[in-house]
Amino acid sequence: MRIDKLLANLGYGSRKEVKQLLKSGAVKVDDCVVKDPKQHVDPNKQTVTLNGEVIEYKEFIYLMMNKPPGVISATEDSIDETVIDLLELEDQIFNPFPVGRLDKDTEGLLLITNDGQLAHRLLSPKKHVPKTYFAVIDREVTEDDVKSFAEGVVLDDGYKTKPGELKILKSGIRSDIELTITEGKFHQVKRMFEAVGKKVVYLKRISMGPLKLDETLELGEYRELTDEEIELLKNDQSK
Ligand code: URA
Repeated sequence: MRIDKLLANLGYGSRKEVKQLLKSGAVKVDDCVVKDPKQHVDPNKQTVTLNGEVIEYKEFIYLMMNKPPGVISATEDSIDETVIDLLELEDQIFNPFPVGRLDKDTEGLLLITNDGQLAHRLLSPKKHVPKTYFAVIDREVTEDDVKSFAEGVVLDDGYKTKPGELKILKSGIRSDIELTITEGKFHQVKRMFEAVGKKVVYLKRISMGPLKLDETLELGEYRELTDEEIELLKNDQSK
C-alpha cells in the first residue's frame, strides 16, 4: 500500500496534508526517512514511525457498544444523534457502521465495524444467527406464550415467525423475560409480544451469535473486540 494512502486512512490528514508531512521528513519506514508519497509499504512486515512513534496499521475495526436509548443505529441522521456520533474521531476515521439495527429506544449490544463481509454474514437470513434480548413486559408472561413463541407467532402483517426461545425470568403484573430469535424483522420482539396481546416496555440486546454484551460497559460506552471475540465471530457457523 502507498505510504500516503496508509497515513490518510489512519486519519493523519488528507492526501495533500500527508504529502507535506512526508516532505518534512517526519515519517520513517524501517528507520529510513520516506519522503515519496508513492513509496509502497507493507504495514504487516515493515515498521512505520511518525516523529519516532510507531504507527499501528489496521484495516478493520470491531467495536462493541452498549447502545443507549435515544440514539439511532445508523451512520447518519438529519435529526437524531447516531451511534457513530458517539465514537471517538480516531475510530470514526475507519468509516464503521452498525451491524443491523436496534430501535431508538432499545439498549444493549451493538457491533460496529467496517468489515462488510463479516457484517453481511451476521445479517444474512440464511445464517440464522441467534440474537438474545432481555425485556420487561407490561403483564404476566405465561407458559402458553413460551409454547406460542416456540411454534412461531403470526405478526401484524401476517408473517409467521421462526421459533423463538422464550424464558420467563420473573412473572407477575410485569414480567422479565429473555427471548432468543434467529431473524431480524422490523421491531420483531415488540411485534411478537403484540401478537400475544402484550407490550414490551424495556428492551435490551444481550447477545448476538457468540458475542455477549460486556456488562461493564456503561450505556453509550464502547470498546474494541478482543482478538478472541473477533475469532469467535469469524468462525461462527450459525445455520
Ligand atoms: N426487536 C425489536 O422490537 N426492537 C429492536 O430494537 C430489536 C429487536
